[in-house]
Amino acid sequence: MTILRTQNIHKNFGGVKAVDGVSIAFEPGKITGLIGPNGSGKSTLINLLTGMTAFDNGLIYIGEHTRLDHIHPYDLPDFGITRTFQDIRLFEQMPVLDNILIVITSRNVLGALFEKHKKYHLDIAEKVLRQVGLWEKRDCLAHDLSYGQRKLLEIARVLALNEDGGEVLHTILFDEPFAGLFPEMIKIVSETLCLLRSQGKTVVLVEHNMDIIRELSDHVIVLDSGQVIAEGTPAHALSQASVIEAYLGK
Ligand SMILES: Nc1ncnc2c1ncn2[C@@H]1O[C@H](COP(=O)(O)OP(=O)(O)OP(=O)(O)O)[C@@H](O)[C@H]1O
Ligand SMILES: [Mg+2]
Repeated sequence: MTILRTQNIHKNFGGVKAVDGVSIAFEPGKITGLIGPNGSGKSTLINLLTGMTAFDNGLIYIGEHTRLDHIHPYDLPDFGITRTFQDIRLFEQMPVLDNILIVITSRNVLGALFEKHKKYHLDIAEKVLRQVGLWEKRDCLAHDLSYGQRKLLEIARVLALNEDGGEVLHTILFDEPFAGLFPEMIKIVSETLCLLRSQGKTVVLVEHNMDIIRELSDHVIVLDSGQVIAEGTPAHALSQASVIEAYLGK
């Protein structure tokens, strides 16, 4: 059974065909690397797959029969899908700890602010912040963290959702989680992706560093100008002439 798949989806921005007839299925319990040159449509595809941008044509299915375009993006975590952003999105004026608590309590921001946090929630927050090395920073405002720490906080939020609604969450899409990170942070993110895979989660990884793609991906999908130009194991996909040309030609 596939858990997230697209049928011939299209998204145009004015004259730009950002996603141009993409039909793909993500393998459950595997890490799929989604790669391609700058502007090839990776982030747009993630936005379409998470309901954040409406597509022009085609279909996206969660599981066998549920159509993604029938679901409100805010309800998507209830259907087991979450993501991180290429441009990090946090509650900037809130402390690190609250940035975690808010995703595992009420989904309504005001409701979450006034909800009394139970030890259960605090325990989850402590566990995931320790996992990414941010527990000591729990009282700092998200805004005051370094770039790398902010990326790790986004990852910690995914881990918190996974701890809290672990049985519901099945697919996590990461849009360039490694970009701009120091080696010790790369190790933390890398271990996180492997942990999620070992729990049977479906992981989609957008990444430009081919060493990371080779090391982590079970399967690779290559986009160029909004179209899939190659697919397969990392060794297979990355050796295709069309892929080498797409990267060298830019
Ligand atoms: N909101 C938008 N409005 C207009 N054009 C857009 C919008 N979002 C993306 N595009 C265009 O769609 C194309 C695909 O962009 P996208 O951000 O999906 O690429 P990407 O593969 O994620 O690139 P990168 O590796 O640089 O992050 C680009 O030509 C981009 O300029
Ligand atoms: Mg992008």
